[in-house]
Amino acid sequence: MDLSINYLGLKLKNPLIAGASAYTADIKKALELQEAGVAAIVYKSLFEEQLNLEAAELEDDLHEYDDRNAEMINLFPSIEHSGPKAHLMALKEFKEALSIPVIASLNCIYKESWEEYAVHLASTGVDALELNFYSSISEADISAESIESEQVEALKRILKKIKIPVAVKLSPYYTNPLAFIKKLDAVGASGFVLFNRLFQPDINIQSEKLEMPYNLSKDGDSRFSLRYMGLLEGKVKASLCANTGIIEANDVIAALLAGADAVQMVTSLYKKGAKCIPEILNELSAWMEKKGYSSVAAFKGKLSKRNLKDPYAYKRAQYVDFLMKSKDYADKYPVN
Ligand SMILES: Cc1cc2nc3c(=O)[nH]c(=O)nc-3n(C[C@H](O)[C@H](O)[C@H](O)COP(=O)(O)O)c2cc1C
Repeated sequence: MDLSINYLGLKLKNPLIAGASAYTADIKKALELQEAGVAAIVYKSLFEEQLNLEAAELEDDLHEYDDRNAEMINLFPSIEHSGPKAHLMALKEFKEALSIPVIASLNCIYKESWEEYAVHLASTGVDALELNFYSSISEADISAESIESEQVEALKRILKKIKIPVAVKLSPYYTNPLAFIKKLDAVGASGFVLFNRLFQPDINIQSEKLEMPYNLSKDGDSRFSLRYMGLLEGKVKASLCANTGIIEANDVIAALLAGADAVQMVTSLYKKGAKCIPEILNELSAWMEKKGYSSVAAFKGKLSKRNLKDPYAYKRAQYVDFLMKSKDYADKYPVN
């Protein structure tokens, strides 16, 4: 059974990629994942915002006693935050310890920083870079157009500076993701990871406080990504990687049928650990055998919009049809 695929110009032994998270930053866990058969790993993102926050906290700590004891000002005169150095060193060590491809990930807040950090990450020897594009909107006076053009510019500048393939991971919150993806594809992105699951704060009504819970995916969460895999298959030069809600083997198979080249998983790793990888690979192989497919290439994209004779399910008409049949649906699932 040939499970191999191409992603970002890299030949991967199967379509399963461990997505960026704290899980993939732990070298012991990464070695377990490699042993379990995962094809590539995305190391947790280098967040410029986090570096700035840490630097500010260190500055505060160092100057906490300034008012009480003047000598303290001179005690640690040259200490400053190491910036991205710790992340870069850990990533280099990580890359050297693993034999499967390692992908770095980056999220910046200032437009000038993207290329600087991208160059640093590429210098660690990683096989590719993933740009974690999102904008956590909290103000009304920033236009969607300005955010998008800044992201396109960042990609352009990075591609001029580094030689490794660059993938773009997007949040689902664009007015027309297809139009934006088309622009990034034209600029030269090697792949699209669709879509990121962003952290959303919750409110604890007992303590009346905001909370930041881990947002793990649930069954059915892959459908948004599935639709975009199906819409984009054959329409972009870049590779397509499905993300969010790829939990079980059936999610992987559905993503491949829609047109994904690969999938990224995080929730499965947190819920089941590395053992989810051989389980999914075995189920994928068994399904392929049952269906008579000897390679992933034989069925990838079979159900994309491009390859369906009647791509009805990808159109809005399908929604209208669903509304028209809502009585049948109500009869099938009666409310008790
Ligand atoms: C604990 C945790 C940490 C994460 N850290 C990152 C990160 O550093 N960079 C990133 O691009 N995505 C990060 N993500 C998002 C995941 O990579 C992934 O996009 C998201 O969890 C959806 O995939 P899933 O449904 O398989 O969980 C993180 C997710 C979790 C749960």
